[in-house]
Amino acid sequence: EWTAANVVDDLVASVREQIGDARVICGLSGGVDSSVAAALVQRAVGNQLTCVFVDHGLLRSGEAEQVEQDFVAATGVDLVVVDAKERFLTALAGVSDPEEKRKIIGREFIRVFEQAARDVVGSHAGSDDHPVEFLVQGTLYPDVVESGGGTGTANIKSHHNVGGLPDDLQFKLVEPLRLLFKDEVRQVGLELGVPEAIVWRQPFPGPGLGIRIVGEVTGERLDILRAADLIAREELTAAGLDRSIWQCPVVLLGDVRSVGVQGDGRTYGHPIVLRPVSSEDAMTADWTRVPYEVLAKISTRITNEVREVNRVVLDITSKPPGTIEWE
Ligand code: XMP
Repeated sequence: EWTAANVVDDLVASVREQIGDARVICGLSGGVDSSVAAALVQRAVGNQLTCVFVDHGLLRSGEAEQVEQDFVAATGVDLVVVDAKERFLTALAGVSDPEEKRKIIGREFIRVFEQAARDVVGSHAGSDDHPVEFLVQGTLYPDVVESGGGTGTANIKSHHNVGGLPDDLQFKLVEPLRLLFKDEVRQVGLELGVPEAIVWRQPFPGPGLGIRIVGEVTGERLDILRAADLIAREELTAAGLDRSIWQCPVVLLGDVRSVGVQGDGRTYGHPIVLRPVSSEDAMTADWTRVPYEVLAKISTRITNEVREVNRVVLDITSKPPGTIEWE
């Protein structure tokens, strides 16, 4: 009989058998898959697991805290947080091209993660400690099918399209979710006590808010976007739409300004785009017919509460021809 409890028992047993006394590391992104995989391995081998969270500063409001506080409190994982916010901002300075941004974010991510992995490995290389042999990946069944089925050694695929690890960092992979579909992963996550905000999180791209600012990514623009995004999420959640909307990117048009009026003053601010979509698998999507009252509330709140934004627009394009993300 398929129950989340039975699946957890079976997976815990097989992870324990695979890992034995060795040590294992896992990169956390804040997403469902890596979180559930880490929680499962933690359940199996306790503090033989060390998790690494690279905070690239491109997450939405509250998401880093969800990992650093809520997830740790719920699962007891040993977590290393790398604050790389300044490093990513510096690397992204002056860059507007979407592909260029993705490349930079992917490259910086792998460099920072590698260094953190080296530090963890180094700290467990002593003679009285077991070496770090394994890397946890949140690979799901659809990923396995897509990539031809084989399991290999060590490359980090779960985050943003990053390449392999260098030769001196070779790990065996632990992929406890590789026979599960997304809905099963969520059930397993709930069974393991992973916070609901993580278990039910909608898809969010690895490069994060870096590809939701059209134009250069700056600290100030990130703050504006985070504030607007939080309001949109709060109102969509309050309206009970979280499960019916696949995801709703909120995009800041950083290089566009338009004239507005607030109080007695003329403003010259940035537009925010709402991109709510309905989809089964993100390959195709339709724009979601969010009720007007909900849109009105979001628009009023964003323009009242986020000073730099004087216009909110709705993206009514399907995919194709529009992609879900703007970059
Ligand atoms: P597009 O914009 O191509 O997005 O219609 C399809 C789905 O993929 C997500 N997405 C990404 N996820 N790394 C990710 O992990 C990325 O670089 C990336 N780009 C897009 C997007 O949010 C949507 O769910």
